Amino acid sequence: MSKDFFKDKAEGYEQDDHRVENVATIASSVMKHIDLKPDMELMDFGSGTGLLLEKIAPYVASFTAVDISTSMNEQLIQKQDQIDCELEVIEMDLTTSNLNRSFDGIISSMTLHHVDDLKSLFGKLHSMLKPGGFIALADLETEDGSFHQEDTGVFHFGFSAKQLMDFAIDSGFSQAEINPASTVQKPYGEYPVLLLTAIA
Ligand SMILES: C[S@@+](CC[C@H](N)C(=O)[O-])C[C@H]1O[C@@H](n2cnc3c(N)ncnc32)[C@H](O)[C@@H]1O
Repeated sequence: MSKDFFKDKAEGYEQDDHRVENVATIASSVMKHIDLKPDMELMDFGSGTGLLLEKIAPYVASFTAVDISTSMNEQLIQKQDQIDCELEVIEMDLTTSNLNRSFDGIISSMTLHHVDDLKSLFGKLHSMLKPGGFIALADLETEDGSFHQEDTGVFHFGFSAKQLMDFAIDSGFSQAEINPASTVQKPYGEYPVLLLTAIA
C-alpha cells in the first residue's frame, strides 16, 4: 500500500486562495493553447480535488480523473455533481499500473514533480492517446527547493523548458511547445509554472 502524501492536506486543499487561483490560471492557459471540442474524452493525471478539470469540464464530453491519493479522490467525489461533464474517478498509481484506455487528450497540473521516472511516464501517456491526441501538462519551472515546505513526495525541484521539451520529443510527441502558464504566489517567493503542449 503506498503512502497517501496528501492525507492531511486534502480537506483544506482548496482553502488556499493562491493555489486555487494558480490552477484556474493554468486552466485558462490550457484553453488558450488547446482547441477543445465538445466530444472530447480527456484524462487528468494527478487530478487531486479536481481544480483543473472542473474548469475545463464544460467544454468537453468526459473526464477520467486519475490520482493515487484516496483523500484527494474523496474530495473530488464529493464535488462530482458540480462537474459539468461525465466524470470517472480512478484511484491508481499511473507509474506502476496501466489504464488500458485511450483519450483525445491528457491534462495535468502540478503533478509531474511528484513522479520519479518521467521518461517512463511520458512513454505511457503517449501510448494512452488516440492518434493526434494532445498533452497539456503544467508544472513548476526549475526552483531552488523552497516551494514545498512539507514532504508530499517530491522528486524534482521543477523543470527547465528544455527538460520538458526533451521528455516529450524523446517519447515520440510532435509539435512540442512551452508557454508560461501561471505564477504561484507564496509568502516567501514567486514560482513560475510552465505549460508543455504536444501532439501524439
Ligand atoms: C500537487 S497535487 C496537484 C493536484 C491538482 N492537479 C491541482 O493542480 O490542484 C499532485 C497530485 O498528484 C497525485 N499523484 C502523485 N503521483 C501520482 C501517481 N504516480 N499517480 C497518480 N497520481 C499521482 C497526488 O496524489 C496529488 O493529488
